[in-house]
Amino acid sequence: MLIIQVRISLSGTNHMRITWTTSFPTPATVFYGTSPGNYTFSAKGSTNMYHYLKYTSGEIHDVVIGPLNQNTSYYYRCGIKSSPEFSFKTPPARFPIKFAVAGDLGQTARTSSTLENIAKSNYDVLILPGDLSYADMRQKKWDTFGLLVQPLASKRPWMVTQGNHEIEKFPKIHRSRFTSYNARWLMPYEESGSPSNLFYSFEVAGVHVIMLGSYTEFGAGSDQYRWLKADLGKVDRRRTPWLVVVVHAPWYNSNVAHQGEYEGVGMRSVMEDVLYGARVDVVFAGHVHAYERFVRVYKDKANNCGPVYITAGAGGNREGLALRFLDPQPKISAFRDPTFGHGQFSILNATLALWTWHRNNDKDGVASDKVWLRSLAYDPACYNV
Ligand SMILES: [Fe+2]
Repeated sequence: MLIIQVRISLSGTNHMRITWTTSFPTPATVFYGTSPGNYTFSAKGSTNMYHYLKYTSGEIHDVVIGPLNQNTSYYYRCGIKSSPEFSFKTPPARFPIKFAVAGDLGQTARTSSTLENIAKSNYDVLILPGDLSYADMRQKKWDTFGLLVQPLASKRPWMVTQGNHEIEKFPKIHRSRFTSYNARWLMPYEESGSPSNLFYSFEVAGVHVIMLGSYTEFGAGSDQYRWLKADLGKVDRRRTPWLVVVVHAPWYNSNVAHQGEYEGVGMRSVMEDVLYGARVDVVFAGHVHAYERFVRVYKDKANNCGPVYITAGAGGNREGLALRFLDPQPKISAFRDPTFGHGQFSILNATLALWTWHRNNDKDGVASDKVWLRSLAYDPACYNV
C-alpha cells in the first residue's frame, strides 16, 4: 500500500494532526505508541479529496491523535497496521524550545539544501510563512512537494500559513482561491476559534504563535481582524511570555522586490497598532526571496516596545533571489543578505531567545546573523506581566 506525503502539525493542547495521502481507499486510522512496533493507541479521523480542472487528488486523510506526552517520541502507522512505520517527537512542555523558520520553499536543489540544514538543526517545530510548493496550478507538484518534505514533516510538526503561490483560481472555471492548500494543509483553525484555515494560532511550550493570512481579508471589519483581536485577548503572558506573529508579505521591507505591496503595507496600516498594543515580540514574514532583520519597530521608527520584523523568504524556490536592496539601507534595517537559508529561533526561557540566520552555503552551525532577544513581557518599560 502506498502511504505518502505523511506530515504532522500541532492541534490544540497535547494533540497532533497526522495527514497523509493514498491513491486508493484506506481507513483514516492512525495506530501509535511510544515504542517501535508497539501501538497501544489508535484514533480515527476523516478523509477528503478535491478536484481541480482535470486533476483529482488522492484520498487525503486527517487524524488527530492524543493526548500525548510532551518531549516524547511516538511511533505510528497510517491506515493499516502493516503500513510503514514513522516516528515523531512532541515539543517540550516548557522552554527551551527551538523553531526553524523558512518561507518560500519550493522544490529545487536549493530547497533540498535548506531542508538538509533544517534537519540537522534539532528543531522542535517548523514555521513556514507561506509559499510552499510553487505548484502554481500544476497539481502534481503539490504531490511531489508532499514527498519532498515528508522526511522532515513526518518527524516534527510543520505549521504553515498561505502565500500568494497558494492562490490557484482559474478564470471562470475554478473560482475558489485555496482549494489545494486548504485540502492538503489543514491547520488547527477550529482549535483556535478561527473561522478559516487561512488564519489561526497555536500555543507550544511558552509561546503563542499567530499565523495570519496575507491573502484573505484583513480590513478592520473582516473576520480575520475580529479574530486577531479576540485571540490576542486570550493571550496570558504569564503562561506564554513569548508572542510571535507570522505573515507572508512583509510589513517592513527594504528590498526592491515586493516594495510597497498592499498585502504588506496595507495589512500593516490596519493591524500594526493591534500588534504593537499587544507587545508582540517578533513578526516573521516570507515573500521576499532574501533575508532581512529589522530592529524593534513601530510606525517606521525604532521603538523598544515594537516587534522585531524578520523576513525569511529564501527557502530555495525556483524564482531565484531578490538581490537588490534599497540604497541607502534604512536605519531600522539591521541586517540584510540575499542568500538562501533558514532561521532558527531558540527560546531559552521566559525572557531570553536567540535568533540566528543560516545560509545554505555556510558550514554547519555557522550563523551569518545572530541576535539575542528579550521578551517584551519581561520588559518593565513595555509590559507588566
Ligand atoms: Fe510570495
